Amino acid sequence: MALKITVIGTGYLGATHAAAMAELGFEVLGLDVVPEKIEMLASGRVPMFEPGLEELLAKHVAGIEGSTGRLRFTTSWEEVGAFGDIHFVCVNTPQKHGEYACDMSYVDSAFASLAPVLRDGALVVGKSTVPVGSAERLAALLAERAAEGVELAWNPEFLREGFAVQDTLHPDRIVVGTASERAEKLLREVYAVPVGEGSPFVVTDFPTAELVKTSANSFLATKISFINAMAEVCEAAGGDVAKLAEAIGYDERIGSKFLRAGIGFGGGCLPKDIRAFMARAGELGVDQALTFLREIDSINMRRRGQMVEMAREALGNGSFLGTRVAVLGATFKPDSDDVRDSPALNVAGQIHLQGGQVTVYDPKGMDNARRLFPTLGYADTALDAVRGADIVLHLTEWREFRELDPAELCEVVASPVVLDGRNALDGVRWREAGWTYRAMGRPRA
Ligand code: UDX
Repeated sequence: MALKITVIGTGYLGATHAAAMAELGFEVLGLDVVPEKIEMLASGRVPMFEPGLEELLAKHVAGIEGSTGRLRFTTSWEEVGAFGDIHFVCVNTPQKHGEYACDMSYVDSAFASLAPVLRDGALVVGKSTVPVGSAERLAALLAERAAEGVELAWNPEFLREGFAVQDTLHPDRIVVGTASERAEKLLREVYAVPVGEGSPFVVTDFPTAELVKTSANSFLATKISFINAMAEVCEAAGGDVAKLAEAIGYDERIGSKFLRAGIGFGGGCLPKDIRAFMARAGELGVDQALTFLREIDSINMRRRGQMVEMAREALGNGSFLGTRVAVLGATFKPDSDDVRDSPALNVAGQIHLQGGQVTVYDPKGMDNARRLFPTLGYADTALDAVRGADIVLHLTEWREFRELDPAELCEVVASPVVLDGRNALDGVRWREAGWTYRAMGRPRA
């Protein structure tokens, strides 16, 4: 009989995983403790913007006309326990308030609710990003509180927002931490399609599986801060960081990806994951091994202030008071509506606090931005944001911004100065249309 799968937590990770499991042919039951989320998902609507996810839900959610009916949602732990052979735990692990450490309360409460309702022989699979050592602790909890034969495996998730569906269905690799042959066999069955298409399946122990995720994110953060450090040097020396990145990227050992200099990384993962990793290393007595991550974090945070300074300098009057600043972009990256730890909104907020009159436009992040920064100004289109502005800041690299007509914008702006915080606009085109175009880490024309 086909395996029955449950997914605990329906955020970016859980909602995507649940829909992807249904796409792979399994019967799936998704659980969330927030009834409004469940209501939305059960009617095929997605609580966030993620390309392709709504279509996938429409294809599988029970009750939607023409769907396979393989995907349902609930708030009942008993229903989840009775239904599932395999339970994927996908709840979030945010940064603790005022601390570097990771807040494990959602994971802990999911395991506490799950343990007593599990059927004998059920497999629990952790997907959340957790501090190394968590899986061992949670396995002990299951051994104590769950039915006999319940097992745990750790299967970190590497999906990127904006590519969540694609990354889940066609992962670069599948990592499974388990010592149980049965758990490995079950997960090989779950992931048979992507493995058949060539995704490597790496089996290891609990700590290594947990560490693969945090070390991968640390490496990515390091690449971005490295190129941003080079951007700082280029700014001082008159070099061009975009050319530098292109040239070092041709070296296959370095690779060209994740070397775009700008205002740095944000979002719900990289910043909090490197901080939680440092905190955990401290607990393990190996904090020295990760002190470089402190530098990665501070290079990253410094970029935001440097963008503010670049804008102040470009305005030429030493102050933002009385100036109108157009901000293109609010989300932490394009193709997402996520504004968590968004460098763009941080820059906008700093300028607002320093007296600038800021108007933000973002293709998908407006509602979330308004909730987080209600005192900023907002416009319904890029053109309206730019109208009458003394300076334009390009802070999230949406395709819509690359496709703007700089000549049209030039007609409505008060002063045609654009600062590219993402090195993503075509500077030549903007200059030809009459703009002063400046990008981070690149020479002025
Ligand atoms: C990241 C990891 O990529 C993913 O594997 C993990 O599962 C979750 O965390 P995500 O948070 O979706 O995914 O964002 P990512 O695409 O990694 O980008 C992170 C940030 O880095 C964004 O703010 C982006 O704008 C910035 N970035 C990325 C750069 O500044 N320069 C680059 O070259 C690449």
